[in-house]
Amino acid sequence: MSFDAQAVRRQFPVFASRPGGQALHYLDNAAMAQMPRSVIEAMVAHDSLSRANVHRGLHPLAERADRAFDAARATVARHLRVADPAEIVFTAGCTAALNLLALAIGAELGPGDEVVVSRLDHHSNLAPWLMLARGRGVRLRFLPVTAEGRLDIDRASEMIGPRCRLVAVTHASNVTGAVTAVPSLVAAARAVGAKVLLDGAQMLPHASVDLPKLGVDFYCFSGHKVFAPTGIGVLWGRRDLLSALTPPFGGGGMVGSLDEDGLTLLDLPYRFEAGTPPVTQAVGLAAALTWLDEFDRSEIAAHERRLTDRLLDGLAAVPGVAVVGPPSLEQRLPVVSFTIAGAHPHDVCQVLGERGVALRGGMLCAQPLMSGFGLTGVVRASLALYNDDGDVDALLAGLAQTIKVLR
Ligand code: ALA
Repeated sequence: MSFDAQAVRRQFPVFASRPGGQALHYLDNAAMAQMPRSVIEAMVAHDSLSRANVHRGLHPLAERADRAFDAARATVARHLRVADPAEIVFTAGCTAALNLLALAIGAELGPGDEVVVSRLDHHSNLAPWLMLARGRGVRLRFLPVTAEGRLDIDRASEMIGPRCRLVAVTHASNVTGAVTAVPSLVAAARAVGAKVLLDGAQMLPHASVDLPKLGVDFYCFSGHKVFAPTGIGVLWGRRDLLSALTPPFGGGGMVGSLDEDGLTLLDLPYRFEAGTPPVTQAVGLAAALTWLDEFDRSEIAAHERRLTDRLLDGLAAVPGVAVVGPPSLEQRLPVVSFTIAGAHPHDVCQVLGERGVALRGGMLCAQPLMSGFGLTGVVRASLALYNDDGDVDALLAGLAQTIKVLR
């Protein structure tokens, strides 16, 4: 039996609503995925019956909150095939995780050291390293991108030299959908003794990620792209590497003891979680990953591939449309960006939005990639497991009409 997107869709309250009396064709999943009922209900149940601060209180409600928070961490670890939940650090999102790591690793780097990023990266993985480079004299090197919007892995060994301390790139592009060839990247980094960080924000909603097998050192993602709430993300790092870093943020919940002369730190992961953590959001994230784990991920991937194929075929038939990204379905997410001759991406998104088709348009927080392609923006359709042929067809039909209106 083929994957039943309609049955999945029925689990999402948002699709039962008809904003403006029309069906919602939600194709902005790379910016924020919708949440199924089970995730919403898990958070409501937690906040209704188990709401308390964690790892501080000794009353029964606080103990319930502790158990829920610890269980959420264990669920995230299981999802990523990580044996030690202490390697899972909860953050406010992928951006917060990347900043945390840039500050912690940055404190160890100095003039002459190099960090390799790429022109395919989202600003969330570029701004923190650029800020670090400016402050500490670290040299940033940018891996180039091929004409079809993939990381140019053939040039990796040329860019990743003996001064490189860290290779920090995206696992999959939020613009072109291209998936990074991780084994080649890891090999190039290992050849010079550099560590590898992957920004998994776009990858995780579409594939199961087995971190030990992936062979990287650090990994980050956000909850809101993986059917979980906003305000939660994860930084994973190998225990020995995380333990060796100094936490950049201090506060309650990370202190072993503290007096006027200084402080000692708690063990992992708490030393990196200063202040009250996002407890309800962690419960929601665990519910989302548990929900995802109930599917056969290869069925989801096949469904998304079929929709991407339909979309790419349809776009190829629209005069003036050019896809910015790999033309094939290999090592590619269901994230499809395109330009339309004579039409501004924002206008296209607005007109289609009024027809119930939710897209994103503009630079997509990826200015180096855009300027490399000589673009000032694109229109992006990003799909998830609950999308179906009707969503793709609504986009294609709406696009044809929109082009007539705008030209
Ligand atoms: N990173 C998100 C996107 O690409 C916000 O839309």
